[in-house]
Amino acid sequence: MIYLDNAASTQIHDDVLNSMLPYLREQYGNPSSIHRYGRLTRKAIHKARKQIASLINADPAEILITSGGTESNNTVLMGISSQFPSGQIITSSIEHDAILEPCKKLSSNGFQIDYLPVDKFGMIDLSNLENIISKNTLLVSIMFGNNEVGTIQPIIEIAKICHKHNVLFHTDAVQAIGKLHVDVNELGVDLLSISSHKLHGPKGIGALYIKNGVKINPLILGGGQEFRLRSGTENVASIVGFGQACEIAQNHLTENIVYVKKLRTLLVEKVLDQIPETTFNGHFEFRLSNNAHFTFLGVNGEDLIIKLDEYGIAASTGSACSVNTQKSSHVLESMGFSLEQITGSLRLTIGIFNTENEIKETVDILKNVVAELRAVSPFKEKYSFTSKN
Ligand SMILES: Cc1ncc(COP(=O)(O)O)c(C=O)c1O
Repeated sequence: MIYLDNAASTQIHDDVLNSMLPYLREQYGNPSSIHRYGRLTRKAIHKARKQIASLINADPAEILITSGGTESNNTVLMGISSQFPSGQIITSSIEHDAILEPCKKLSSNGFQIDYLPVDKFGMIDLSNLENIISKNTLLVSIMFGNNEVGTIQPIIEIAKICHKHNVLFHTDAVQAIGKLHVDVNELGVDLLSISSHKLHGPKGIGALYIKNGVKINPLILGGGQEFRLRSGTENVASIVGFGQACEIAQNHLTENIVYVKKLRTLLVEKVLDQIPETTFNGHFEFRLSNNAHFTFLGVNGEDLIIKLDEYGIAASTGSACSVNTQKSSHVLESMGFSLEQITGSLRLTIGIFNTENEIKETVDILKNVVAELRAVSPFKEKYSFTSKN
């Protein structure tokens, strides 16, 4: 198998798995217990919180551990809005469903939700934010790097606009962490969501950075764990693994970015060179290092994924998280893509465990599979589909 769906999830790192095992076997104490079993697991959580904080240059006391990106995003939207009877929330039209769905709920509860549009590269326009932000704005939430097309938003500039208006700024950085240098102080964000399984850690664990002084209401009430913001006995093994994944990501950040970018460049150059009637989507410059997103006109992306899977390549049409809803990509729609362009889209996301040979093999297979599907395409007459060598 060649795994090119690293934006959906990543292979767990061996050192991460090994760090977790003692907490699944012999270190099973409840971190709230006074005895030595409890002390040991408490200490392990303390270390992990430091590792998570260090990756984004936060203080450990600013890290709320959650069950992942979805919970972090929900905690922000519900935890801020519940402090007010009404108000405005500004987000973008290309957010993950973990933002869009809670926003829908808040809208039905009487909050005003404004969605900033994006251009054909998936980029918001800062002047739209300037125009729409008001004295009623409670929160701005704009994602860092998009999960489908990889476009990176101008986070520092957004934070400046928000603070000029005394408004809190949250960014969903689930896809950005580990793909670029993220420093919460340099960025000036107030809240930032992270997910462990996107950076070679276990699933079902993540964090929310909450800047010192920012008030959030808890989603889950109970025994008062996690600074009274998220009750429930801690998932110690996963927290330890998440911490380890953050430390590894921090220690190898630059070399990983360079390596993955090199493979991405090779992939994009070869695909555009060898497969006709193909477009490379998203922003050329402001883009996550691991993301390649293409449209092969005349091809159905889902057929393409099934065929690629037969050849042992794991790819995606876009967001794995919305696969059950079978809906067309709201991200590509927002970028102005036609239904035909959306239908022919494919996302390949590279990871640190991929190799140059895998990329070359993928292009060879992709070229044949696209030609095969185009040969039976209802759009055959519309495009020449001349083959390139
Ligand atoms: C941008 C973005 N936000 C949030 C999530 C949800 O994260 P999790 O799977 O940890 O709940 C994802 C997952 O794909 C994502 O890509």
